[in-house]
Amino acid sequence: MATGVDLLSPVWSHLTQIQPERGEGIYLYDAAGTRYTDFTSGIGVTNTGHCHPRVVQAIQEQAAKLIHGQINVVIAPSTIKLAETLNTVTPDAIDCFFFSNSGAEATEGAVKLARMATKRTNIITFQGSFHGRTAQTMAMTNSKTVYRSSYQPLPAGVFVAPFPYAYHYGWSEDEAVDFCLRELDLLFKSQSAPEETAAIIIEPELGEGGYLPAPVRFLEALREICARYGILFIADEVQTGFGRTGKFWGFQHADITPDIIVMAKGLGSGMPVSCVASSKALMSQWTPGSHGGTYGGGALAAAAAVASVETIRDERLAENAAQMGERLTDGLVELQGRYPVIGDVRGRGLMIGTEFTRAGKPDKDTTKAVQKACIERGLLLLTCGSYENVIRWIPPLVVNAEQIDTALTTFEDALNTVL
Ligand SMILES: Cc1ncc(COP(=O)(O)O)c(C=O)c1O
Repeated sequence: MATGVDLLSPVWSHLTQIQPERGEGIYLYDAAGTRYTDFTSGIGVTNTGHCHPRVVQAIQEQAAKLIHGQINVVIAPSTIKLAETLNTVTPDAIDCFFFSNSGAEATEGAVKLARMATKRTNIITFQGSFHGRTAQTMAMTNSKTVYRSSYQPLPAGVFVAPFPYAYHYGWSEDEAVDFCLRELDLLFKSQSAPEETAAIIIEPELGEGGYLPAPVRFLEALREICARYGILFIADEVQTGFGRTGKFWGFQHADITPDIIVMAKGLGSGMPVSCVASSKALMSQWTPGSHGGTYGGGALAAAAAVASVETIRDERLAENAAQMGERLTDGLVELQGRYPVIGDVRGRGLMIGTEFTRAGKPDKDTTKAVQKACIERGLLLLTCGSYENVIRWIPPLVVNAEQIDTALTTFEDALNTVL
């Protein structure tokens, strides 16, 4: 009879077999007391660090009072508090909040809202996007074929425009932006006319697709195009939100306000909670009852989210992400000078990618070998990118300078072992 890990579905891939008993800040500890440095943040979730005392306290207090009420039946005070708290960190124009459980669920909710409000059918996404694994969001995900293979046909009405991935094209950022704007215009002429396009959805920094910040000029041009054609601009802030990129929201690097913001991950510090946010005017066009769910906006997750947002705000974690991100980037750029296999270092705040290339071609083997060598040294790092040749640097936002420097030393040690 199978026991232990063998009872888990093989559909889950596992970066490691580590079984942490507890977490604190940037560290995880297993039963033997071995410490691991978590520069994955549980895939971009624990922005406040593992088990931040304020989040733990909020969960404990809420659990003792009310775990589940169900929003269609009663309204938990912590759910209202969450909406009020988010209202203080979103642009003035965004003042209405719908809660669900996962990033995919919220993204799919945003698409439903956009379709109903505009009475249009089509959605434009970008090459390299990751929006989730439900049927609708799979159709909008183009970072790797593994997320789509064997599940076709996927829902229709999704069109993919190129993303200004300057390093891949071998162009300057401006050349890449010009090309992508021309191609988007062509897409409007050839595949999805503006008047049938409900929304354009973009990650302000592509996550799974390779840690590629969307150039400011590109974001501002998209905003203008959306306004011109009555298309809704959806910012997928699932990974970029909650201070990750050095500002509270990833879109804030540009002078834009999205029509809809999709949030998850950092919102709950590990409790399953996500959100679709927009203006009340837009949200009012969503027919009551046409969307919902049993758990969305649940009392316990909402309490954790309130504490997470307050902690990010009060401890100025976005500012810390900007400062520590600069330190990390400087260190990585210095290493790039000595290890030419690091072809590109990019990203905003603490969402940094190092892309490995040899002779101008993606180098997945070295990427994976360096990742493995880091893990053997107790530093947990994830990879991303369609070619799986990008190491992503995504530590909790509570990380300090000494911890950044230690991680850089470990990374160099790993490079020396592999190269
Ligand atoms: C940008 C983005 N959108 C959506 C999702 C899907 O979120 P979830 O895994 O919570 O469904 C992710 C997950 O990695 C993501 O990075």
